[in-house]
Amino acid sequence: MQKLAIQGGYRLSGEVKISGAKNAALPIMCASLLTADELHLSNLPDMQDVSTMMKLLEQMGVRIDKSVQATAFNAAVVDKLLAPYDMVKTMRAAILVLGPLLTRFGEARVSLPGGCAIGSRPVDLHIKGLIAMGAEIHIEHGYIHATAKRLHGAHICFDLISVTGTENLMMAAVLADGVTVLENAAREPEVVDLASCLIEMGAKIEGAGSDKITIVGVSKLHGANHAVMPDRIESGTFLVAAAATGGHITLTHARADILDSVLDKLREAGAKIDVTGDRISLEMTARPRAVNVRTAPYPAFPTDMQAQFMAMNTIAEGSAIVVETIFENRFMHVQELQRLGAQIEIEGNTAVIQGCDRLDGATVMATDLRASASLVIAGMMAQGETVVDRLLPFIDLTVSNTP
Ligand code: UD1
Repeated sequence: MQKLAIQGGYRLSGEVKISGAKNAALPIMCASLLTADELHLSNLPDMQDVSTMMKLLEQMGVRIDKSVQATAFNAAVVDKLLAPYDMVKTMRAAILVLGPLLTRFGEARVSLPGGCAIGSRPVDLHIKGLIAMGAEIHIEHGYIHATAKRLHGAHICFDLISVTGTENLMMAAVLADGVTVLENAAREPEVVDLASCLIEMGAKIEGAGSDKITIVGVSKLHGANHAVMPDRIESGTFLVAAAATGGHITLTHARADILDSVLDKLREAGAKIDVTGDRISLEMTARPRAVNVRTAPYPAFPTDMQAQFMAMNTIAEGSAIVVETIFENRFMHVQELQRLGAQIEIEGNTAVIQGCDRLDGATVMATDLRASASLVIAGMMAQGETVVDRLLPFIDLTVSNTP
């Protein structure tokens, strides 16, 4: 999808089924490289990154059968230990094949991801951790070339919390010789979902979800069936969209227990939220109140929800301060929101938003996934038509939109 034309001024109301989590699906798909047996995955989200990851795995030799209810991944024969530049540049999560390939096959060649729209995003912590586990790593022609006869366990303390860094090293450690301890590990629910899948495959992992993960290497893993967890960012995005437009929405197949920081902020904005089992309902009957946001690793407020709350704050009552502490350049949506009439000032990693009475539709440019979502939300709040241009193809707003 290249463009989305949105007629603003309607409340977002209806019921929507939440998809499987992109950020859990991608590492778990890479975990299929760790075994010669079949891994069956259900609840994979239907989106471009998942298709790209399938293509990447297939070009390595993995056989994927989508005709069955739970997609089957078979990595019995992997003859190309390579993640080429063309794929890594479109999907940074391709770096997650590095740990699995290296630990099972003793070699991997993965393109360095390079910078992206939201910041420089280095992968030095992934590389340092693998070196501590006995890998030899050379950067050659833009590629990470890693080799190791067999990785060994290591005590690794992350300088800063990295989600995919934790996942890559956890996957490398499951087949390493001995015990690996990851300290200052990411506590994100997606790390826990990956660990659950690995445990179902025979891995020995303790502590996932805390900042210290202990992995005892085993000689081989076997197949498993795993259902990918619901997407907490998709959930939060729909909730903000409903709150920002004064709507009434129900999410099904969702998990409220991993959304605390987001739900708290929505309540602070004035939303009424009910949780029953896997259903989350939100009703907003007044103009939202401005809410301050400071992004930080889980369980604090997620950077992937920052842009959406910024959009809501543009029409809120009062002023809000949004501080982005994870990525250095994650305010690309601000200039676009300003084109709709939003009053936002940026100073370093801090944005100050003065809520205004209305936004006016215009053509705006999408820059990254979450920024695109924030512009769609802003378009729904604005008067007249907003065209979100260069829309990345992975946004799927399927909820019914009634006046
Ligand atoms: C993951 C998520 C992304 C989310 C981000 C932060 C996936 C596929 N993507 O990205 O949606 O926005 O977590 O919650 O799960 N860093 C380094 N060196 C490294 C690794 C990271 O300096 O080797 C820095 C990054 O530049 C960033 C911070 O650490 O400033 C956190 O990044 P990280 O948690 O690694 O993000 P991703 O795993 O890439």
